[in-house]
Amino acid sequence: MGGVGMFAVALGKHYFGAEVTTTVSTGKMERAGQMGAARVVDYTKETYTEVLENTADVVFDTVGDAEIYRVAKHNSTAVSVAMLPDRNGLDHFRHESAPLSLFGKAKLAAAKLIVGAVGWYLTRGFRSKGIRYGYVIMSPDGSDLEKTFNPLLENGTIKPVIANVYPFTTEGVQSAFKELMAGHVAGKVIICVKD
Ligand SMILES: NC(=O)c1ccc[n+]([C@@H]2O[C@H](COP(=O)([O-])OP(=O)(O)OC[C@H]3O[C@@H](n4cnc5c(N)ncnc54)[C@H](OP(=O)(O)O)[C@@H]3O)[C@@H](O)[C@H]2O)c1
Repeated sequence: MGGVGMFAVALGKHYFGAEVTTTVSTGKMERAGQMGAARVVDYTKETYTEVLENTADVVFDTVGDAEIYRVAKHNSTAVSVAMLPDRNGLDHFRHESAPLSLFGKAKLAAAKLIVGAVGWYLTRGFRSKGIRYGYVIMSPDGSDLEKTFNPLLENGTIKPVIANVYPFTTEGVQSAFKELMAGHVAGKVIICVKD
């Protein structure tokens, strides 16, 4: 349960009214319960794909493990923010700001083909169980957040966990990225632009 998973657990319970199961490492078991998880599996001690096999109506993947399809029930739904998109998901890359635009227009089609093929291969497990799979790229939407999120923050239902706050300086930004890249951050890493 990292920065994204933490909010996914809280929204799953408090916005969608779901009974949420999440995987975490040992030190985060209690925190996951506080965020709203009904069941917490320590993925460092148990093979979560075995413990949770065929139990989920909806899977939200923040890890990118191709084996996660095993957790989903047949004909259920899975959404990933961490795996590669399948062919359908490649439409997300049409925006110029998307990572694949770095290849330049001429090479974009070839890059899409490769990403699509690898994504298609990685998501074969979902197809074998008839699971609807979608890869999502977030685009921040203030008004959506205001409607969905603000009430839950304001009434204290969701309490964001802040791992660290860094100043908006070269060293501050470098340290923030170092912390993120090391993985296993407990909460959000903040860069404070304005005091
Ligand atoms: N598509 C998009 O628009 C979008 C947007 C934001 C982020 N992302 C992607 O979403 C992913 C998560 O982002 P994040 O900011 O939450 O990263 P993060 O803070 O590094 O979180 C990743 C977490 O996954 C946890 N985890 C849970 N189950 C796991 C398992 N079975 N095996 C390995 N790790 C497991 C780890 O938790 P422990 O600390 O307990 O080990 C780790 O902290 C990243 O790949 C990021 O690139 C995509």
